[in-house]
Amino acid sequence: MPKKLISGIKPTGHMHLGNYLGAIKNWVELQDQYSCSFFIADLHSLTIKISKEDLQKQTFDLAIDLLALGINPKKSFLFKQSEVVGHTELAWIFNCLVPVPELERMTQFKDESLRHPENVNAGLLTYPSLQAADILLYLAEFVPVGEDQVQHLELTRVLARKFNNRYGHFFPEIKPVLSPARRLMSLNDSAKKMSKSLGEASYIAIADDPETISKKIKKAVTDEQGIKNLLELYSYFGHPEKTKSLNSAFQKGKLMNVELKEELIKVTLDFLKPIQEKRTYFQDHPKEVEKILVEGAKKAQNEADKNLKKIKNLVGLI
Ligand code: TYM
Repeated sequence: MPKKLISGIKPTGHMHLGNYLGAIKNWVELQDQYSCSFFIADLHSLTIKISKEDLQKQTFDLAIDLLALGINPKKSFLFKQSEVVGHTELAWIFNCLVPVPELERMTQFKDESLRHPENVNAGLLTYPSLQAADILLYLAEFVPVGEDQVQHLELTRVLARKFNNRYGHFFPEIKPVLSPARRLMSLNDSAKKMSKSLGEASYIAIADDPETISKKIKKAVTDEQGIKNLLELYSYFGHPEKTKSLNSAFQKGKLMNVELKEELIKVTLDFLKPIQEKRTYFQDHPKEVEKILVEGAKKAQNEADKNLKKIKNLVGLI
């Protein structure tokens, strides 16, 4: 039996190259080696204020991004988190095991609380319990994510150990799977990671049109770190020889920012063109997308039911 791998992404804003290079590229590439489940973390997105319309639209957009990027429903389960009963039940069990200070020291909780002091809700605090449940409900061992999620995965390991010590060994030790682009940086602030929360100029979305991409790259900051970030981004899409020559020009102080940006625009557009064509196909076939998600959820539910029954039994609930 291949080992189990799982990961999720929140339907907030647009999927961007940071998400792709940091996580989704690994999802796509690891589909042949692992038994994979991927989900749209719609329950997690409720921790921020999101309208019904935005949630529905962004969930669909994310599904088509994932399909266009190469998540293959014949190889992997692809589903909406909220469609599978069990995530929130296991999260409750974990909530009753995790000390509040462990949750309060999570970087994401602290950052979000500062960013939205008017909305420090209980879901934001207990978010990592739900994330641990997302993973452990399926007894998955491998979790491909970007660096910003590693702290949550460490807490998942702590929760698995706490559960195992109290109720008997059941959950595996999970392992984060990181990509070379574990922390892709923002275009408009060279010291911060590419992120939806830094505004549209921070990122290139999978669905951005060529004009927008070109504008965003042209406006990208060009302090020393900014150039390094652009060179890194280039290295993921460009030809290795060209990457080498751009890097060497940079080392010698001879790199023209305009040339780097033109080259980066070219390779980014080349990479995204076929993906956007696939995206358009799925956009025009929403029933097909719906069917994939429903079938993915059915398969995931089978697994979840089996494991949740055993978990409830260990805890004494049944
Ligand atoms: P989310 O939706 O913020 O991001 C999805 C994935 O993209 C990665 N990522 C990045 N990687 C490199 N550079 C960046 N600039 C960058 N920005 C984002 C994230 O690390 C993530 O892997 N809590 C999760 C969703 C989640 C989850 C889970 C993940 C819910 N349950 C269980 C794994 C397992 C989140 O908010 O990711």
